[in-house]
Amino acid sequence: MAGSQSGFRQCFRLVQRSGVSRWFISQNNKIFPGSVLRTPITTRCCRPYATQTGFGQPTHETRPHLLKEGELTPGIQAVEYHLRRRALADKMQDGAVAIFVGAEKTFRSGVVFHEFHQNPNVYYLSGFMEPNCVIAIERHQDDYEFHMFVEPKNERVELWEGPRTGVQGALDVFNADSASDIGGLRKRLDEIIGRASVVYMDKPKDSSDFGSFFSPQAKRGSPEASIIEMLKHYGKYKNLKALSPIMHRLRSVKSPAELQVMMTAGQISGRAFTEAYAERFTKEADLYAFLEYVFKIGGCEKSAYVPVVAGGTHSLAIHYTRNDDVLHPGDMVLVDAGGQYGGYCADISRTWPVNGKFTDAQKDLYQCVLNVQKACIELANTSNSLQSLQQEACRLFQIELKNIGFDASMSDITNILYPHYIGHHVGIDLHDCSLVPRNENLNNGNVVTIEPGIYVPVDNEKFPKHFRGMGIRIEDNVYINDNSPLITCAAASKEVDDIERVASGLLE
Ligand code: GLY
Ligand code: MN
Ligand code: MN
Repeated sequence: MAGSQSGFRQCFRLVQRSGVSRWFISQNNKIFPGSVLRTPITTRCCRPYATQTGFGQPTHETRPHLLKEGELTPGIQAVEYHLRRRALADKMQDGAVAIFVGAEKTFRSGVVFHEFHQNPNVYYLSGFMEPNCVIAIERHQDDYEFHMFVEPKNERVELWEGPRTGVQGALDVFNADSASDIGGLRKRLDEIIGRASVVYMDKPKDSSDFGSFFSPQAKRGSPEASIIEMLKHYGKYKNLKALSPIMHRLRSVKSPAELQVMMTAGQISGRAFTEAYAERFTKEADLYAFLEYVFKIGGCEKSAYVPVVAGGTHSLAIHYTRNDDVLHPGDMVLVDAGGQYGGYCADISRTWPVNGKFTDAQKDLYQCVLNVQKACIELANTSNSLQSLQQEACRLFQIELKNIGFDASMSDITNILYPHYIGHHVGIDLHDCSLVPRNENLNNGNVVTIEPGIYVPVDNEKFPKHFRGMGIRIEDNVYINDNSPLITCAAASKEVDDIERVASGLLE
């Protein structure tokens, strides 16, 4: 293998037997471990993208404080993106193509846009973060071809919006085998669809066989609308194979690099919670602002979702997000928040006393939820499913609640006191991989939340008076690893003593 030192970095192009070539970035002169590429027969050194200095997202060259050499997104090497595409191609029939439409910019009003969020499957397979793109992966026997359709470089637009990666950047940085201007989608994708044995693509959400009459299938003039027209032209629309079930399975097993990225998201976010205990905030909004600040200054890109910061009885509304009330000493505050790092979410819930000291009743109910949460984490392994953990949580709640004076039936538990589910997969999406059935046993490499909670209504006389109006949820993110589950957000303290000691300033 040969490499060249350029002004930018060492970079290799590998030509495979099929003629498909790929770029890889050297790490200490080792291009990639072992047999990542099965059939390289020649390698030659090429000039890296020395002429392009601006891209539509961070690169190692432009933001070395965010990305190490060889990474396309924080913590994820270019070669891992290749392996993900390879894994998808392996699931496809020979001669098939999978097509993904990137997310579009959305507008709040007029030209005022919302923060852009890429289609998670596009992000997972390419790392590309610009709007208005299409990617296609064609399977050819034991190899695949990766096509990208992107917004081209455009001096006038870039003067306003900043640099785009462009067509050459798609080839050089994102390792596309072919890249084209999204404006030429019809011409180039038409050939690909025409020759495909099968097309894998998710139909637009609101589509049906009567879609063209009863609901808009895709915005007129959008890339998606063009693709649907082409598919119909070739008679391939009716036989589309869904991609999401395949993608959710692939995405549900996290690689070692993804685990590290999720550990980083969990660690930054978890620390922010523990720091927040000591601050004794008196307003929900201030606590929200503090967490978001600490997530971001700690290295996260942003909050992974709109958090719940719920003082007192607001905690009974599971999706309370107004976060605009005062916090009263003597109450608890329930916070469900997490940062996003490298595109991956942390999803953490903690409940603690506003004034730093649990009352006896608060402590009893808190300990009851914590016992159930810890027992479920112990059981988070490949012998159990989310469904069986949910059943176990309900069974344990019945015992724990009885121990502190509740007389609660199973129906009280599932309908009133614990009306939600034990958890979900978490990753690029907050509720990741939702098509993986809940009743299937967990797999090594899954990351799931374990988040039992108890919410005691204010005015239900069935339940002990001193617990009424309390809502408690404790949520961790757990990496499934044989019989030794790993909590990625353990930096968020959750034992009663630890919370009280941090809140009183005794524990840093
Ligand atoms: N933060 C939403 C959830 O826990 O599922
Ligand atoms: Mn949550
Ligand atoms: Mn959750």
